[in-house]
Amino acid sequence: MKRRDILKLTAVAAVLAATTALMPADDALAQDKKFRIGFSQATTIEPWRAQFNKDIIAEAAKHPDVELIITDGEDRTEKQVADVENLIRQEVDALLVSPKESAGLTGVVQQAIDAKIPVFVLDRNVETDQYTQFVGGDNKLIGRAAGEYAVELLGGKGKAEGNIVEIWGGMGTQPAHDRHDGFHEFTDKEPGIKNLLDQQSGDWKQDQAYNIMATALRNNEKIDLVYGHNDPMAYGAYLAAKDAGREKEMKFIGIDALPNEGVTWVNNGELTATFLYATPGAEGLRQAVKFLKGEKVEKTVTLDTMKVTKENAAQILKDNGL
Ligand code: FRU
Repeated sequence: MKRRDILKLTAVAAVLAATTALMPADDALAQDKKFRIGFSQATTIEPWRAQFNKDIIAEAAKHPDVELIITDGEDRTEKQVADVENLIRQEVDALLVSPKESAGLTGVVQQAIDAKIPVFVLDRNVETDQYTQFVGGDNKLIGRAAGEYAVELLGGKGKAEGNIVEIWGGMGTQPAHDRHDGFHEFTDKEPGIKNLLDQQSGDWKQDQAYNIMATALRNNEKIDLVYGHNDPMAYGAYLAAKDAGREKEMKFIGIDALPNEGVTWVNNGELTATFLYATPGAEGLRQAVKFLKGEKVEKTVTLDTMKVTKENAAQILKDNGL
């Protein structure tokens, strides 16, 4: 093994040790008191979630007084509920949670709140607002930006025409509903626009979106635009259209804009546009630390978005060393 690789491995091991080791909850150690922050992640099988974990780990490494415990809900509500119960039992100083779905996680989030643990809800909401803070993108605003751009691509305000396939994210999540509602604020004003599907969810997954699109292609001779609630689904739809030899007939819009995914696909001309949905990993952790140090935090922190098209994709890739 090369020296460089060994150094890299040592660095990774150090980060892992710093982030997952447990400190004894002993007052004798008060002078080295660390903030034990638990983070319950919904899943790690999606690329955006993997980036989210990287972002939170990198931020934690900047705070020597933080010990981060990360759990993986494995894309199952029951598993994530058990993870949060476990973190409550460990009496973490703060709980960060990015819920798989809103309703299923609400009860256990409430338990943490009742146990007087400050709770930071990240990205997807729950059905209570008694948490300390919510950090995430404005999905309604992103949906609106996507809808406005779809109208432009289909001929412009008042004259837009075309058939749209919309592929929903998980139906039990607030982002999917907000991305839908925002989009339709623009597209529903256009009499020339027709929606081909009725609430079809790909549950944020590329392969499920591929299947939905394959069926839509069989059932519809003319599709002008596909709106996927995230990039993996927009790309899955693109692949289905490509396999049917029809990808050139239509535009594809997604959301997330990870450099090595959505932005690359836009740069390759596979997706027409994507909208940035930054992970709340770094900001969420910073906010929790701020709160634990006794500073005031806002009820909501909204992360910025931007539109990514062929015009700026190459520059974004360059800025990210790709
Ligand atoms: C990842 C993901 C992202 C999406 C977000 C919405 O699990 O599906 O692609 O933007 O969750 O909560």
